Parts: sequence; structure tokens; C-alpha cells
Amino acid sequence: MQELLDIINSRKSIRRYKTDPVPDAMVDKILEAARWAPTGENYQPWRFIVVRDQETRNRIGDLARLGSGSRMTAWYCMGHMQERFAGIKDEAKRAEVLRFMYSGEVSEFAKQAPVVIAVIGTLREGSVDVPYDLSAAIENMLLEAHSLGLGGCWVHGPVASTRDARKFKEILGIPTGMGDYKVIAYVSIGWAAEARKYPRPKKSLEELVHWERFGRKERPHHG
Ligand SMILES: Cc1cc2nc3c(=O)[nH]c(=O)nc-3n(C[C@H](O)[C@H](O)[C@H](O)COP(=O)(O)O)c2cc1C
Repeated sequence: MQELLDIINSRKSIRRYKTDPVPDAMVDKILEAARWAPTGENYQPWRFIVVRDQETRNRIGDLARLGSGSRMTAWYCMGHMQERFAGIKDEAKRAEVLRFMYSGEVSEFAKQAPVVIAVIGTLREGSVDVPYDLSAAIENMLLEAHSLGLGGCWVHGPVASTRDARKFKEILGIPTGMGDYKVIAYVSIGWAAEARKYPRPKKSLEELVHWERFGRKERPHHG
């Protein structure tokens, strides 16, 4: 059996998918993993909308492209995008990467992913913990998907603003009253059509951990 830590540290966000369908039994396992996440006061405020319909996924992809495109165009105008991708020395390649980003195409992948699962929180039943509860559920979903050999991505950007979250609710028929449901993210799932050679660079534990009190970087000796 694979160690849990091996599953955790070999997962990576996947944004390109094959057209092969994802069996219902796998979707059920992913939802089951979400159901067992920890949740403040055991409220379980999560609700999931499983979307396979191509037309609906196209609308989600378009919403994501527009939102991402306008955000990244602004960053491009401020020069941030050029700074971020300055490492790509081939000029034509850099220009194409920048175009892919500021056109918003980078965020369109809900169109390709055979399954998109919207993760929303009930505000009436939930507590102040709703975003954290749902985040725990999403991580469980991603890990289960990965352990089944599937790729997935946690997508928040396209539903981050109130305006886009409202449009997202309209697409999926989610009640739009302010106190009803909070859209946290959607998760795109499918068979990976990309192979990232290297994992994303991660900070070392040395950089992240303090011992006993803030600022103490050397580990106390225990017997
Ligand atoms: C809260 C949160 C929001 C995210 N939103 C997006 C998003 O809107 N679009 C996207 O493509 N990826 C999104 N991601 C995925 C991150 O970009 C990804 O996890 C990060 O770059 C690290 O890469 P890895 O998942 O491959 O380790 C999000 C991840 C988290 C945890």
C-alpha cells in the first residue's frame, strides 16, 4: 500500500485532460472522501454539484477565461507578468506564454475536464468555519482523485469576486441570496494529459517551522 505522504507529495495540479470519461464509481469515491473531512462543530456545510454536461462546463470555462483574462491583463499592463516570466529566454515562447495568460485561456480548462465539481457552503447551517470546512473537503477530493490515478485542480480565482460568484451561481441554478450559499471553488477532474517533470518548488521545513516559540529556528534536543 502506498504511504499517505507519498500520495500527498506526488499530487500536483493538473489543468490539461484527456477526453476519456471518468467512471461514476470514481466520482463517488472522490465525493465520499470529501464527506469525511473535518468540519467545525461537525456542521458539514458542504454541498457538491457534479457537472459533466459540456455546455455547462463551457459556460464555466468562459466565465473563468473572462475573469482571469481581465485580471492578468491588468497585471500585464503593470509589468508584473513580464517580470514573472522573465526566466523564459526564448522570446517567441515567452510571448506565447504571456498571451496564454492575459487572454485568460490559462483558466479555461473546465471545458476540457470531463468532470467539474462545484463546492459550495450552506451559510444558514454552517458556522464561521465554512470556508475552512470546504477547503478541507477539497483537499480530500484532490488526494482521493490522485490516489485513483486522476488529475485535478482546485479553482478559486474565477469565483473569487462577488460578481463572478453570482454568475457562477446563475450558471448552476444555485440560489443567489446573500445568506444562502457561499461558492468556495470548483474542482476540475479528469485523466491527466500533461506530465510535469518536476514538482512545484516547495519551501523547506527549515524555512517554515519555528520551535517552541516564534523565531526559534534550532530544534530543541529531545533525549
Ligand atoms: C485556495 C486555492 C486556490 C486556487 N485557485 C486556482 C485557480 O483559480 N486556478 C488555477 O489554475 N489553480 C488554482 N489553484 C491551484 C494552485 O495554483 C496550485 O495548487 C499551486 O500552484 C501549487 O501547485 P501544485 O498544486 O501542483 O502543488 C488554487 C489552489 C488553492 C489551494
